[in-house]
Amino acid sequence: MNFSAVILAAGKGVRMCSEWPKVVHRLAGKPMLMYVVDALKAAGIDDICLVVGHGKEYVQKLFDGDRIRFVVQEEQRGTGHALMQAEKAVDPASAVIVLAGDTPLLRASTIKNLRDFHENSQAAASVLSCKISKPRGYGRIIRNADSSFARIVEEKDAGEREKAINEINSGIYCFQAKEVFRALAQINTANAQGEYYLTDVLEIMKNEDKKVGILIAEVEEDIYGINDRIQLSQAESIIRKRKNTALMKNGVTIIDPSTTFIDRDVRIGRDTIILPFTMIEGNTIIGERCEIGPSSRINDSVIASDVSIESSRVKEARIADKCVIGPYSYLRPGAVLQQGVKVGDFVEIKKSTIGEDSKVPHLTYVGDAQVGRGVNIGAGTITCNYDGKNKYETILEDGAFIGSNTNLVAPVKIGKNAVTGAGSTISRDVPANSLGVERAKQKNLSRRNNTVE
Ligand code: UD1
Ligand code: CA
Repeated sequence: MNFSAVILAAGKGVRMCSEWPKVVHRLAGKPMLMYVVDALKAAGIDDICLVVGHGKEYVQKLFDGDRIRFVVQEEQRGTGHALMQAEKAVDPASAVIVLAGDTPLLRASTIKNLRDFHENSQAAASVLSCKISKPRGYGRIIRNADSSFARIVEEKDAGEREKAINEINSGIYCFQAKEVFRALAQINTANAQGEYYLTDVLEIMKNEDKKVGILIAEVEEDIYGINDRIQLSQAESIIRKRKNTALMKNGVTIIDPSTTFIDRDVRIGRDTIILPFTMIEGNTIIGERCEIGPSSRINDSVIASDVSIESSRVKEARIADKCVIGPYSYLRPGAVLQQGVKVGDFVEIKKSTIGEDSKVPHLTYVGDAQVGRGVNIGAGTITCNYDGKNKYETILEDGAFIGSNTNLVAPVKIGKNAVTGAGSTISRDVPANSLGVERAKQKNLSRRNNTVE
C-alpha cells in the first residue's frame, strides 16, 4: 500500500495570543510543525502535503527547498473543510495519514503502528484513540455495544454521559484516500461550532458499512496537542527530557538534566560531561571527552574533542581539539580556534583565526585578525579594527608576543617572533624578530614642586 500524509496547519491557534501561527512556535529550538514532518519522514512517509492558511507565509518559509507540497485553505471552516482542500494533491489510490501540525510529541513508532494497523485490517479508515484520565477538550470516541466504532462527538456537542467517556480522538487518522474524499462531500456544519468536522466522515463510512478501525495509542504523551503557551512549555520539557535521555544513553554525562537545555539537533560525543546551567543550541556539534559548563551558552558551533568551556558564550564558532575556553569568554561568529588554543577571562573574539597553541588569556578584544601559531597576546590587548566606517585586518605571525595593553591599530602586521612593548599603540607594521614600542619616556615629578627628580 502506498502511503502519503496531509498535515492540517491552517488554524490560527487563537489561544496562543500570538501574531504567528501556532505551528511555527518553537520547541527546543525547532518549530513544532517540523517535529510532525520529521516523525512522518522517520516513519518512511515522504509524500507530505501541508494545508496552510493563517500566517501561511511564516509556515512556507520553514520549508524552503523541501519537497513538501502546500495547499491553501483561505477561510478556516473546520478540519473537514481543511482536508477537502487537499483532494487534488493526494493520489486517490493511496492511503493517507491525516494529522494536525500541533502534536509535536508524536513519535515515528506511533505513526508506523497506525500505518501497519490500517494495512493489516484493510479498513476504509483507522483512527488513533487514547484513554486519558482528563479528557477535557478532546472529541470522545463513542463505541457500539460490540465495541466497534460508532461516532466521534466533539466536547462542545457532547452531553454529560458522553463527556464522561475517557477514550478520546487523537486527531490522527489513516484513510483510503478515495473513501475519505467521497465521504467529505457529504459532511455539513450542523454542529455547535458551525464547522465542517473531519470526524463526521468516520460515522458516514460506518453507516455505509465500511470498516472503521480504532487503534488505542499506548503513550498518552504522543498525541498531546498544543493549544496554548502553558501546553507549549509542558511539551518543551518533555522534548528536552527525551533529548537528554537519548544523549545519556549514548555516553554523554549530564550532571543535572533539569538545568541543561540541549536543542533537538545538537550532537555530542561520548564521555563529554555537561555541567549544570548550560544551553547548547541550534546545529552545534561537540566531540568526545569535552567538559562544557557550568553556565555556558553555545549555539551553531562546531567543537572538536578534549575541549573545556566554562561559564562562556559561544556563537557560530569553530573550536579544534584541546582548546581551553573561559571562564567568561565570548566567542562570536567567525571565531576559529585551532588546536590547543587558550582563551581566558573577559576575552572577546570575532571573525578571527587563532593558530595552534596560541594564548589569549585575559581582558582582550580580537576582531578581524589572523593569529599564527604560538602567539601570546598580553592582557588588555585590543585590535582597533574599526574606524567608524570600515573594518580592517590585524595579522600576528607565528611566535609573536604582544605586550600587555597593546593597541593594534588595523590594518597592521606583527612579524614572526616580533614583540610589542606593553602599553604601545602600534599603528605601523613591526618586522619579524623586532620590538615595536610606542610610548613617551617616563618622567617622575617631585610631589612638592613638580620638578623632575
Ligand atoms: C480536533 C478534533 C477532535 C480531536 C482533537 C485532537 C475535529 C472536529 N475535532 O479538535 O475530535 O480530539 O482535534 O487534538 O476534527 N485546522 C485547519 N483548518 C481549520 C480548522 C483546523 O487547518 O479550518 C487545523 C488546525 O490548524 C490544527 C488542526 O486542524 O492543526 C486541529 O484543529 P483544532 O481546531 O485544534 O481541532 P480541535 O478542536 O483540537
Ligand atoms: Ca487542537
